Amino acid sequence: MARKDGPLVISVINMKGGVGKSTISALLARHGAIRRNLDVLAIDLDPQANLSQALMHNSYGQFLTDQRASIVEVFNGYLPPSPSSSGPSPLGPDDAVEGIFEWEDRSLDLIPARFDFSDNLTNAIRPDAKALARFIAANFKDKDLIIIDCAPTESILTHAAYHASRLLLVPVKPEYFATIGFPLLAQSLTNFRRQNRGHKIEVAGIVINNGFYHGGNNGGPEKTQAMADIRADAAKNNWHMFKHEIPFSRGFPKKMRGDFSYSGNSDMFSYFANEFFKSIGM
Ligand SMILES: Nc1ncnc2c1ncn2[C@@H]1O[C@H](COP(=O)(O)OP(=O)(O)O)[C@@H](O)[C@H]1O
Ligand SMILES: [Mg+2]
Repeated sequence: MARKDGPLVISVINMKGGVGKSTISALLARHGAIRRNLDVLAIDLDPQANLSQALMHNSYGQFLTDQRASIVEVFNGYLPPSPSSSGPSPLGPDDAVEGIFEWEDRSLDLIPARFDFSDNLTNAIRPDAKALARFIAANFKDKDLIIIDCAPTESILTHAAYHASRLLLVPVKPEYFATIGFPLLAQSLTNFRRQNRGHKIEVAGIVINNGFYHGGNNGGPEKTQAMADIRADAAKNNWHMFKHEIPFSRGFPKKMRGDFSYSGNSDMFSYFANEFFKSIGM
Protein backbone atom coordinates (compact mmCIF):
# COMPACT_ATOMS: atom_id res chain seq x y z
CA MET A 1 0.00 0.00 0.00
CA ALA A 2 2.89 2.36 -0.83
CA ARG A 3 2.50 5.98 0.24
CA LYS A 4 2.81 8.73 -2.31
CA ASP A 5 5.81 10.26 -0.53
CA GLY A 6 7.51 6.95 0.23
CA PRO A 7 7.88 5.50 3.71
CA LEU A 8 7.92 7.55 6.88
CA VAL A 9 11.17 6.77 8.68
CA ILE A 10 11.30 7.14 12.43
CA SER A 11 14.14 6.38 14.84
CA VAL A 12 13.53 5.34 18.43
CA ILE A 13 16.33 7.02 20.32
CA ASN A 14 17.60 8.13 23.72
CA MET A 15 21.25 8.52 24.74
CA LYS A 16 20.43 6.31 27.70
CA GLY A 17 20.06 2.53 27.94
CA GLY A 18 17.23 0.51 29.45
CA VAL A 19 14.46 3.01 28.74
CA GLY A 20 12.51 0.70 26.43
CA LYS A 21 13.79 1.65 22.97
CA SER A 22 13.93 -1.92 21.70
CA THR A 23 10.69 -2.96 23.38
CA ILE A 24 8.81 0.02 21.91
CA SER A 25 10.41 -0.44 18.46
CA ALA A 26 9.28 -4.08 18.37
CA LEU A 27 5.78 -3.32 19.62
CA LEU A 28 5.22 -0.36 17.28
CA ALA A 29 6.46 -2.37 14.29
CA ARG A 30 4.08 -5.23 15.11
CA HIS A 31 1.20 -2.88 15.92
CA GLY A 32 1.72 -1.01 12.64
CA ALA A 33 1.63 -4.18 10.54
CA ILE A 34 -1.02 -6.15 12.42
CA ARG A 35 -3.43 -3.48 13.67
CA ARG A 36 -2.87 -0.61 11.25
CA ASN A 37 -2.52 -2.55 8.01
CA LEU A 38 0.84 -0.97 7.28
CA ASP A 39 3.76 -2.37 5.35
CA VAL A 40 6.54 -2.04 7.92
CA LEU A 41 10.31 -2.44 7.94
CA ALA A 42 12.11 -2.57 11.30
CA ILE A 43 15.85 -1.91 11.39
CA ASP A 44 18.12 -2.96 14.24
CA LEU A 45 20.95 -0.46 14.64
CA ASP A 46 22.11 -1.74 18.03
CA PRO A 47 24.94 -4.33 18.12
CA GLN A 48 23.19 -5.86 21.13
CA ALA A 49 20.53 -7.03 18.66
CA ASN A 50 17.63 -6.86 21.12
CA LEU A 51 15.13 -5.81 18.44
CA SER A 52 16.25 -8.70 16.21
CA GLN A 53 15.74 -11.16 19.04
CA ALA A 54 12.40 -9.59 19.99
CA LEU A 55 11.04 -9.98 16.45
CA MET A 56 12.75 -13.22 15.38
CA HIS A 57 12.60 -15.07 18.70
CA ASN A 58 14.00 -18.60 18.30
CA SER A 59 14.84 -18.18 14.63
CA TYR A 60 17.47 -15.54 15.49
CA GLY A 61 19.85 -18.35 16.53
CA GLN A 62 19.42 -20.02 13.13
CA PHE A 63 19.99 -16.70 11.36
CA LEU A 64 23.36 -16.41 13.15
CA THR A 65 24.27 -20.03 12.44
CA ASP A 66 23.43 -19.62 8.75
CA GLN A 67 25.51 -16.40 8.64
CA ARG A 68 22.75 -14.69 6.67
CA ALA A 69 23.23 -11.04 5.71
CA SER A 70 22.47 -8.33 8.27
CA ILE A 71 22.89 -4.60 8.90
CA VAL A 72 26.65 -5.23 8.76
CA GLU A 73 26.41 -6.00 5.02
CA VAL A 74 24.20 -2.93 4.49
CA PHE A 75 27.01 -0.72 5.79
CA ASN A 76 29.64 -2.69 3.90
CA GLY A 77 27.60 -2.48 0.69
CA TYR A 78 28.30 -6.03 -0.53
CA LEU A 79 27.91 -9.70 0.34
CA PRO A 80 31.20 -11.37 1.26
CA PRO A 81 32.47 -14.44 -0.62
CA SER A 82 30.74 -17.60 0.58
CA PRO A 83 30.63 -21.30 -0.36
CA SER A 84 28.16 -20.36 -3.13
CA SER A 85 30.01 -17.30 -4.49
CA SER A 86 33.64 -17.11 -5.49
CA GLY A 87 34.04 -13.40 -4.64
CA PRO A 88 32.11 -10.50 -3.18
CA SER A 89 28.66 -10.01 -4.72
CA PRO A 90 26.29 -7.05 -4.92
CA LEU A 91 23.85 -6.59 -2.06
CA GLY A 92 20.37 -7.11 -3.55
CA PRO A 93 17.20 -5.45 -2.23
CA ASP A 94 16.11 -8.62 -0.43
CA ASP A 95 19.49 -9.42 1.04
CA ALA A 96 19.78 -8.55 4.71
CA VAL A 97 15.98 -8.54 5.00
CA GLU A 98 14.19 -11.13 7.13
CA GLY A 99 10.44 -11.66 6.76
CA ILE A 100 8.73 -11.58 10.16
CA PHE A 101 5.07 -11.54 9.21
CA GLU A 102 3.08 -11.44 6.00
CA TRP A 103 -0.65 -11.23 5.53
CA GLU A 104 -2.59 -10.14 2.44
CA ASP A 105 -1.16 -6.80 1.32
CA ARG A 106 0.96 -6.04 4.37
CA SER A 107 4.08 -7.37 5.95
CA LEU A 108 6.64 -6.79 8.64
CA ASP A 109 10.27 -7.18 7.62
CA LEU A 110 13.45 -6.74 9.62
CA ILE A 111 17.04 -5.84 8.88
CA PRO A 112 18.68 -7.64 11.81
CA ALA A 113 21.84 -6.75 13.68
CA ARG A 114 24.69 -9.05 14.67
CA PHE A 115 26.77 -9.01 17.83
CA ASP A 116 29.94 -8.28 15.84
CA PHE A 117 28.30 -5.19 14.30
CA SER A 118 30.28 -2.69 16.36
CA ASP A 119 33.65 -4.44 15.80
CA ASN A 120 32.90 -4.55 12.14
CA LEU A 121 32.16 -0.85 12.00
CA THR A 122 34.98 0.45 14.14
CA ASN A 123 37.58 -1.56 12.28
CA ALA A 124 40.12 0.49 10.37
CA ILE A 125 37.94 2.32 7.85
CA ARG A 126 35.32 4.70 9.11
CA PRO A 127 31.90 3.47 8.01
CA ASP A 128 29.73 5.63 5.79
CA ALA A 129 26.98 7.25 7.89
CA LYS A 130 24.85 7.67 4.76
CA ALA A 131 25.00 4.01 3.69
CA LEU A 132 21.76 3.12 5.48
CA ALA A 133 19.83 6.11 4.09
CA ARG A 134 21.03 5.16 0.60
CA PHE A 135 20.00 1.51 1.01
CA ILE A 136 16.53 2.58 2.20
CA ALA A 137 16.13 5.11 -0.62
CA ALA A 138 17.08 2.51 -3.23
CA ASN A 139 15.05 -0.43 -1.97
CA PHE A 140 12.09 0.43 0.23
CA LYS A 141 9.93 2.94 -1.65
CA ASP A 142 6.92 0.65 -1.18
CA LYS A 143 7.04 0.47 2.61
CA ASP A 144 4.68 2.68 4.63
CA LEU A 145 6.71 2.89 7.80
CA ILE A 146 10.31 2.22 8.77
CA ILE A 147 11.24 1.99 12.45
CA ILE A 148 14.89 2.15 13.47
CA ASP A 149 15.97 0.95 16.92
CA CYS A 150 19.08 2.88 18.02
CA ALA A 151 21.95 2.06 20.37
CA PRO A 152 22.18 4.24 23.50
CA THR A 153 25.59 5.79 22.86
CA GLU A 154 26.28 8.45 20.27
CA SER A 155 28.34 7.02 17.44
CA ILE A 156 28.45 6.79 13.69
CA LEU A 157 25.29 4.68 14.04
CA THR A 158 23.40 7.60 15.57
CA HIS A 159 24.34 9.66 12.52
CA ALA A 160 23.28 6.82 10.24
CA ALA A 161 19.89 6.85 11.98
CA TYR A 162 19.59 10.64 11.60
CA HIS A 163 20.51 10.56 7.92
CA ALA A 164 17.73 8.03 7.30
CA SER A 165 15.05 9.61 9.52
CA ARG A 166 12.33 12.20 9.28
CA LEU A 167 11.20 11.77 12.89
CA LEU A 168 12.55 10.69 16.28
CA LEU A 169 10.63 9.03 19.09
CA VAL A 170 12.21 9.38 22.54
CA PRO A 171 11.23 6.88 25.26
CA VAL A 172 11.96 7.95 28.83
CA LYS A 173 11.74 6.13 32.15
CA PRO A 174 10.54 8.54 34.84
CA GLU A 175 13.21 7.97 37.45
CA TYR A 176 16.23 9.77 38.84
CA PHE A 177 18.52 10.84 35.94
CA ALA A 178 15.64 10.49 33.46
CA THR A 179 16.65 13.57 31.51
CA ILE A 180 20.39 12.88 31.52
CA GLY A 181 20.32 12.00 27.83
CA PHE A 182 18.23 15.01 26.72
CA PRO A 183 21.01 17.63 26.48
CA LEU A 184 23.13 15.09 24.57
CA LEU A 185 20.30 14.43 22.15
CA ALA A 186 19.48 18.14 21.76
CA GLN A 187 23.12 19.00 21.11
CA SER A 188 23.66 16.15 18.70
CA LEU A 189 20.50 17.13 16.75
CA THR A 190 21.61 20.76 16.60
CA ASN A 191 24.98 19.70 15.20
CA PHE A 192 23.37 17.36 12.69
CA ARG A 193 20.94 20.03 11.46
CA ARG A 194 23.75 22.53 11.07
CA GLN A 195 25.73 20.10 8.91
CA ASN A 196 22.72 18.86 6.92
CA ARG A 197 20.64 21.93 6.17
CA GLY A 198 18.37 20.37 3.57
CA HIS A 199 17.34 17.59 5.93
CA LYS A 200 14.16 18.07 7.97
CA ILE A 201 14.39 15.98 11.11
CA GLU A 202 12.10 16.48 14.10
CA VAL A 203 11.27 14.99 17.47
CA ALA A 204 7.82 13.40 17.12
CA GLY A 205 7.60 13.24 20.89
CA ILE A 206 8.63 11.84 24.23
CA VAL A 207 6.88 8.78 25.59
CA ILE A 208 6.95 7.86 29.27
CA ASN A 209 7.69 4.17 29.64
CA ASN A 210 7.65 1.78 32.56
CA GLY A 211 6.48 4.55 34.84
CA PHE A 212 3.63 3.20 36.90
CA TYR A 213 1.88 0.06 38.05
CA HIS A 214 -1.61 0.46 36.72
CA GLY A 215 -4.14 0.23 39.54
CA GLY A 216 -1.43 0.11 42.18
CA ASN A 217 1.70 2.11 42.93
CA ASN A 218 1.62 5.35 40.96
CA GLY A 219 5.39 5.80 41.16
CA GLY A 220 5.46 7.98 44.29
CA PRO A 221 7.49 11.18 44.85
CA GLU A 222 10.44 9.87 42.81
CA LYS A 223 8.26 9.69 39.72
CA THR A 224 6.60 13.06 40.44
CA GLN A 225 10.00 14.74 40.56
CA ALA A 226 11.24 12.93 37.44
CA MET A 227 8.06 13.89 35.55
CA ALA A 228 8.56 17.55 36.48
CA ASP A 229 12.16 17.39 35.18
CA ILE A 230 11.06 15.67 31.97
CA ARG A 231 8.27 18.22 31.34
CA ALA A 232 10.64 21.13 31.94
CA ASP A 233 13.30 19.75 29.59
CA ALA A 234 10.74 18.83 26.94
CA ALA A 235 9.32 22.37 27.03
CA LYS A 236 12.80 23.88 26.85
CA ASN A 237 13.55 21.92 23.67
CA ASN A 238 10.05 22.33 22.27
CA TRP A 239 9.53 18.56 22.25
CA HIS A 240 5.99 17.19 22.34
CA MET A 241 5.05 14.75 25.12
CA PHE A 242 2.61 11.97 24.31
CA LYS A 243 -0.39 11.94 26.61
CA HIS A 244 -0.56 8.17 27.08
CA GLU A 245 2.16 6.51 29.15
CA ILE A 246 3.28 2.92 28.75
CA PRO A 247 2.79 1.16 32.09
CA PHE A 248 5.12 -1.25 33.82
CA SER A 249 4.15 -4.81 32.91
CA ARG A 250 5.82 -8.19 33.14
CA GLY A 251 3.93 -8.89 29.92
CA PHE A 252 6.47 -6.80 27.94
CA PRO A 253 9.60 -8.92 28.54
CA LYS A 254 7.44 -12.02 28.03
CA LYS A 255 6.22 -10.78 24.64
CA MET A 256 9.80 -9.93 23.65
CA ARG A 257 10.71 -13.57 24.26
CA GLY A 258 7.82 -14.64 22.03
CA ASP A 259 5.60 -15.74 24.92
CA PHE A 260 2.15 -14.26 24.34
CA SER A 261 0.47 -16.36 27.04
CA TYR A 262 0.23 -13.51 29.56
CA SER A 263 -0.24 -9.88 28.58
CA GLY A 264 -1.34 -8.21 31.80
CA ASN A 265 -1.08 -4.45 31.53
CA SER A 266 1.12 -4.66 28.45
CA ASP A 267 -2.11 -4.54 26.42
CA MET A 268 -2.33 -0.90 27.51
CA PHE A 269 0.45 -0.25 25.00
CA SER A 270 -2.29 0.17 22.41
CA TYR A 271 -3.42 3.46 24.03
CA PHE A 272 -0.03 4.95 23.30
CA ALA A 273 0.23 3.20 19.91
CA ASN A 274 -3.11 4.66 18.78
CA GLU A 275 -2.07 8.15 19.88
CA PHE A 276 1.30 7.74 18.16
CA PHE A 277 -0.08 6.50 14.82
CA LYS A 278 -2.72 9.24 14.83
CA SER A 279 0.00 11.85 15.42
CA ILE A 280 1.96 10.66 12.39
CA GLY A 281 -1.19 10.46 10.26
CA MET A 282 -1.27 6.63 9.88
N1 LIG B 1 6.96 -1.00 30.33
C1 LIG B 1 7.77 -1.97 30.75
N2 LIG B 1 7.42 -2.79 31.77
C2 LIG B 1 8.25 -3.76 32.21
N3 LIG B 1 9.45 -4.01 31.71
C3 LIG B 1 9.86 -3.22 30.68
C4 LIG B 1 9.06 -2.17 30.15
N4 LIG B 1 9.75 -1.58 29.13
C5 LIG B 1 10.93 -2.22 29.04
N5 LIG B 1 10.99 -3.22 29.95
C6 LIG B 1 12.14 -4.10 30.20
O1 LIG B 1 13.25 -3.28 30.54
C7 LIG B 1 14.45 -3.76 29.94
C8 LIG B 1 15.03 -2.68 29.01
O2 LIG B 1 14.15 -2.47 27.91
P1 LIG B 1 14.72 -2.29 26.43
O3 LIG B 1 13.54 -2.17 25.53
O4 LIG B 1 15.71 -3.36 26.12
O5 LIG B 1 15.43 -0.88 26.61
P2 LIG B 1 16.55 -0.17 25.67
O6 LIG B 1 16.38 -0.71 24.29
O7 LIG B 1 16.23 1.29 25.77
O8 LIG B 1 17.88 -0.48 26.28
C9 LIG B 1 14.07 -5.02 29.20
O9 LIG B 1 14.31 -6.11 30.03
C10 LIG B 1 12.56 -4.86 28.96
O10 LIG B 1 11.91 -6.10 28.86
MG1 LIG C 1 17.82 -1.57 23.03
